[in-house]
Amino acid sequence: MGRFIVDGGAHLKGEVKINGAKNAALAIIPATLLSKKPCVISNLPNISDVDLSFQILKTMGAKIEKQDEHSVMIDTSTVHKTEVPFELAMKMRASYYYLGALLARFKEANVAMPGGCNFGVRPINLHLKGFESLGANYEIDGGIIRLRTTNLTGAKIYFDVVSVGATINILLAATTADGVTIIENAAKEPHIVDLANFLNSIGANIIGAGTNIIKIKGVKELNSSDYTIIPDQIEAGSYMAMAAVTRGDVLIKDVTPKHLESIVNKMESIGLKIKKYDSSLHILSDGDLEKADVTSQAYPGFPTDMQPQITAVLTFAKGTSIVTEGIWDNRFQYVGELCRMGAAITVDGKVAVVEGGKILKAAPVEACDLRAGAALIVAALGAKGQTEIKNTRYIERGYEDIVGKLTALGASIKKV
Ligand code: UD1
Repeated sequence: MGRFIVDGGAHLKGEVKINGAKNAALAIIPATLLSKKPCVISNLPNISDVDLSFQILKTMGAKIEKQDEHSVMIDTSTVHKTEVPFELAMKMRASYYYLGALLARFKEANVAMPGGCNFGVRPINLHLKGFESLGANYEIDGGIIRLRTTNLTGAKIYFDVVSVGATINILLAATTADGVTIIENAAKEPHIVDLANFLNSIGANIIGAGTNIIKIKGVKELNSSDYTIIPDQIEAGSYMAMAAVTRGDVLIKDVTPKHLESIVNKMESIGLKIKKYDSSLHILSDGDLEKADVTSQAYPGFPTDMQPQITAVLTFAKGTSIVTEGIWDNRFQYVGELCRMGAAITVDGKVAVVEGGKILKAAPVEACDLRAGAALIVAALGAKGQTEIKNTRYIERGYEDIVGKLTALGASIKKV
């Protein structure tokens, strides 16, 4: 089990290049199942979750050829299985996208109940309700979700909770269904738009992605395309948080600033000076950090996947900040580890009160999930002394070459 050893105190300075969006990649890779023609997908991040999704496709019979460091050619014409085995599905939440993709291609899907980060109960009732509306039925048998249909038919589907995963799964299933599907109260995250753009690039007919009503007119056949994934806004936001606590001066390159508005606004209110360019952001942290209240919400609100990192930043800010988790029931599990480093945070349900301005001191800590791990790196970079962070595998699920990127910015970090 890997550990990161981080010496706090270095000022981050220089440039960092942001990779493609994890959550877009994890939707677009299964989406290649919808076409029997090969697709080239570029700007894929080199992270373990992407490798896992390739493994899933390969066990089903797909051919995947690397084109360069961040591009692959995926040919799913040879896929002959409709099952995602338990040992792969349990490692990643996004394995449930194989439900929608397999259902669309083969009229059946058998996917073990997904695993992934544990933020409390993570139901999939909306996904299943959506599949039923399109004419599929399901049973859960021995931990495997089995979906069957004789024919998928377009329908009007209203979600009473905004769900990224359910919106994506219905986009996948409805793309080749007969007739028109309308998703109401759809999620609007940038990676939903990216998936819709990819599907349209291979011949789908989807309009409205990025708004709360998405209309999908089913098409019979899909084609090939050469598609480039959007930049990862959470990776970019994480480097902003790292610059914030290190009095950093960092140019964050290859981003879409529009996708980062809520994070940029919050970072500015905390005291960062941020210059916006077409595809980069210059972050300067040269004064005291100020308290802020943060509530995580669906896009375009402040992302829940940045909640742990901003909480870590606020431990360094003057005054008392309130952080409210608006999406998940149990996403403050990492707070105990920050307190081990001297942070003063109390949690009551979905609200954390952060008494800032403390000097954090190095301690042995343990990541309990991906973004919790990122928050511990933020804390360690700003802390005094040498912090040891256990469970690097969680962090490596979502951050390509984090050691190399931070080292290039002047941090002292190594993996042992
Ligand atoms: C995705 C992201 C995850 C992020 C989350 C919220 C991926 C692979 N993961 O997760 O990183 O934290 O969006 O931005 O893209 N819900 C239901 N029933 C359902 C589905 C969801 O009640 O069937 C609820 C959940 O309990 C949660 C809320 O809806 O409270 C949002 O969940 P959802 O948007 O579905 O998250 P994921 O797609 O799992």
